[in-house]
Formats: sequence, C-alpha cells, structure tokens
Amino acid sequence: MKFPSKRAIRLLPHLRALSYSMTPPSASTSSAAASGSPASPPSAHGDTMQPSTTSDPLSFQTPISKPAVAAVASNLAAMRIDYNEGFLLESNAAPDPFTQFASWFAHAKETFAYEANAMTLSTAGKDGQPSSRVVLLKGFDEEGFVFYTNYESRKAHDLEENPKAALSFWWGQRQVRIEGAVVRVPGTESDEYFASRPRGSRIGAWASAQSTEVSREELERKAVEYGHKFGEGEVPRPDFWGGYRVIPNRIEFWQGRPSRLHDRLVYESAQTGATGWKFKRLSP
Ligand SMILES: Cc1cc2nc3c(=O)[nH]c(=O)nc-3n(C[C@H](O)[C@H](O)[C@H](O)COP(=O)(O)O)c2cc1C
Repeated sequence: MKFPSKRAIRLLPHLRALSYSMTPPSASTSSAAASGSPASPPSAHGDTMQPSTTSDPLSFQTPISKPAVAAVASNLAAMRIDYNEGFLLESNAAPDPFTQFASWFAHAKETFAYEANAMTLSTAGKDGQPSSRVVLLKGFDEEGFVFYTNYESRKAHDLEENPKAALSFWWGQRQVRIEGAVVRVPGTESDEYFASRPRGSRIGAWASAQSTEVSREELERKAVEYGHKFGEGEVPRPDFWGGYRVIPNRIEFWQGRPSRLHDRLVYESAQTGATGWKFKRLSP
C-alpha cells in the first residue's frame, strides 16, 4: 500500500464538516420551556434522576425509579456479539503503524456509519486523575495525530502539566490505541485548519471559554456578539485555540475474533517517527 502524502492526510478533506461545535441558537432553555419542547438535561436528585424529554425510552417516567434503571441495566450481562469480520496476522500487518492506521482508517471511513475520525483522548494532569473525552482527528502522518481544541480547556491544562496522552478509536470489531508525547502544532498549521472551518464554528470558538461554567443564554449571547463583532469580515483564530499533535511511541491494533481469541498487534518505537518500529503480538 502506498503511503498517502502528508498534506493529503493532514487535511482529510473528505471528512464531514464539524457539526458538534455550534448548532444554530434556536432554543434557549426558557423559550424551550415556554414551547413545551425539550428542556432540562437529566440531573441527579438524591436517589432519582430527572429525565430529559427526548426519545429516551424512560422519559415518560418522572422521576425515573431505581427499579426502572435497574431493569435497563440488567440486560447488560446478556449483551454479547461474536466477532467474526476479520483478522490481523503478522503476515498481513504493515511494517509501520502509520500505513496500518491508514489502511484501517480508510476501511472505517467506508464502513463505519458515523464520524470514523472520532477518537477518545485521555489525559491526566499532575494530580494523576485521568480524564477522557471524544475529539476529532484532523490529520495524521508519521509525525503524529492531530486534533484541535481550546488551549485553556481542562484537557489543555492537563497537557500543560503532563504533556502525554492516549488516543483510542473504536470501529465496531476494531480498536486502535495510541500513546505518546503531545506538542502544540505550529500556529501556521492551526491557522490553516481554523480558516477551513465553517464560519459558525469559527465564531463558536471565540464564544466558548471551553470547560468553564456558563449558562445557555450567556453562550448564545456571546456567539451573537462575536458574530456582530466580526460582521462579514474575516474571523481570525483566537490565540487560545489551536492544534495538538500526539507523537506516538506505541500503537496497538486490535481485531475482534471468534471466542474472544482476538488479534492484538502492538507497534513500539524506541525513537518516535517513521523508522524503527517493531510489532509484537499480545494476548487478547
Ligand atoms: C463526536 C465528538 C467530537 C468532538 N470533537 C471535539 C474536538 O475536535 N475538539 C474539542 O475540543 N472538543 C470536541 N468534542 C467535545 C469534547 O468531547 C469535550 O466535551 C470538550 O473538548 C471539552 O473537554 P475538556 O473539558 O475535557 O477539555 C467532541 C465531542 C464529540 C462527542
């Protein structure tokens, strides 16, 4: 398999536009309550939970009772599928993990229904408390795996204190786990990506002091304010927003197999970069 060019992979132009970052400010909490449309998210109150009014099958119960929650949870033990869609043998694995990742990512993009570039990012600050969240992969090459975020968010604070992270992708019967050091991408690279985002997402980046407490009204007000401020003109990248690159030293590929005899090949490199990778098999 020919390894695609750095730039082609970095931009991943075929991916869907961001949709998580800013939906139109159509329903504030108060107007939603007035119209009787979905209002409060679930919240814990003693031994009961207040449900949302979405298509949640328990939403007709207010409050949801502990037995009702237990009944849903009781199905978990029986949830099981046998993995039988593929294999990963030493003989069909690529010699370097980036080519292997490109191959699996291309397949996931074709076959996996939603956001194949969504990955779980785990960080831990100096207190050692791990914290995970989903972010979108926006580029990869032999230098690492790139995502974009707010440089003042919780994850960014963790990364300041401890510039190491783990990424994991879940694609049905496949999983990829990546570990390594984290650096900020150069400002020019963040500028280029920021400029490619839809205008609403660019304004949303300005409006959101990510990970700090805010009301829905305040968030929407700030988005409107920044919308007016920038008018029809250019929306520059905020200093507090940009990319990180996870420079891997370990990448594991997991392929589900029947009877839980899964394939796990882990690539490790003493030095980071395209050379010097070796893989070995791990017990499932
Ligand atoms: C599918 C999906 C994609 C997301 N992509 C990003 C992203 O690329 N960058 C980002 O900062 N947050 C993204 N988020 C939101 C994060 O999961 C998280 O809520 C946010 O970054 C704040 O995390 P923190 O408080 O731990 O820093 C995404 C969430 C989902 C569900």
